[in-house]
Amino acid sequence: MLYYFAPLEGITSRLYHEIHRDFFPMLDRYVTPFFVPSIKGLSTKDRSQLSHALLSGLPLIPQLLTNRSEDFIQSANQLQDLGCSEVNLNLGCPSGTVFSKGRGAGALRDLDALRAFLDAIFADCPLPISIKTRIGVSDPKEWEALLPLYNEYPIHELTIHPRIRNEHYRGSPHTDAFAMALQESRAPVVYSGDLFTPDQVATFAEHYPQAKGIMLGRGLIANPALHATVTQGELLTTSTLLAFHDRLFLRYRELLFGERPVLHKMKELWHYMICMFPEHEPQAKRIRKAQNLSDYHGAVSSIFRDLILDPYRGYQPPA
Ligand SMILES: Cc1cc2nc3c(=O)[nH]c(=O)nc-3n(C[C@H](O)[C@H](O)[C@H](O)COP(=O)(O)O)c2cc1C
Repeated sequence: MLYYFAPLEGITSRLYHEIHRDFFPMLDRYVTPFFVPSIKGLSTKDRSQLSHALLSGLPLIPQLLTNRSEDFIQSANQLQDLGCSEVNLNLGCPSGTVFSKGRGAGALRDLDALRAFLDAIFADCPLPISIKTRIGVSDPKEWEALLPLYNEYPIHELTIHPRIRNEHYRGSPHTDAFAMALQESRAPVVYSGDLFTPDQVATFAEHYPQAKGIMLGRGLIANPALHATVTQGELLTTSTLLAFHDRLFLRYRELLFGERPVLHKMKELWHYMICMFPEHEPQAKRIRKAQNLSDYHGAVSSIFRDLILDPYRGYQPPA
């Protein structure tokens, strides 16, 4: 079974990936959060970011979010020049602005338009194309038409987050749709969705040995040792989490301008990491309410001093 680091826009930056790799065993693949290309392909900034990330030696798969085949092909040519060996297409992003433009999960609304787009990119793309998809827009039954459409193309890998767009991240993943893909997909299949504890990941791997891979997202941000625990029995410890946190904080402090963006980044990470501590509500509230770095440090000290980390827990989505 291969393990993939899920793309999490705003969280899994190059910095985050690299610091994670310094503290924990490397995963098999790291899919970048989406880049939105233009007719000129990727921006100079995006290309420079990617080339630095590639130099760091991470097995990186860049992801594109577009429904314009020219933009996709232009970017794929640039990615090939940078040394990438694969490009990933985002057909899952549920956000309103992306959806309304017919990108991400918005591209699943009109299968004729999607077919025309896939025809064009598969005809001219210089790199193997993998796809990360939801199973439909408003009804899980849409998968019965979408999967056969995917089967018309030589997709390198199909990563499935088995929710429909309208569910965003609510409810439970439709594992029956994933099981159907394991039976019927021509492309190798990777699973993404709601595997948060070591136990959940191990049970899933046992249950679906035919899957090519498991992609870990929010669970890996909550417990950065999740993959290490499942594959090597290495449990998350308080001292490792503290050192990991401190390095992230320091590097974001160097990289970002001013307190606010650093606070924002760290608060977002704590939304996930705090779940590793039972009885965390007072500290979680202190983090959320922190107005400056002094408040923030007070709250973090209290987490590491007053709470006991449980390495078998995992991310708990808000009710
Ligand atoms: C904050 C956030 C940002 C995300 N950004 C991306 C993205 O850029 N590209 C993508 O394909 N999926 C993105 N996703 C979806 C995740 O990659 C993943 O498929 C989803 O969270 C389900 O997996 P999980 O339950 O393991 O987190 C994002 C999800 C979240 C919560």
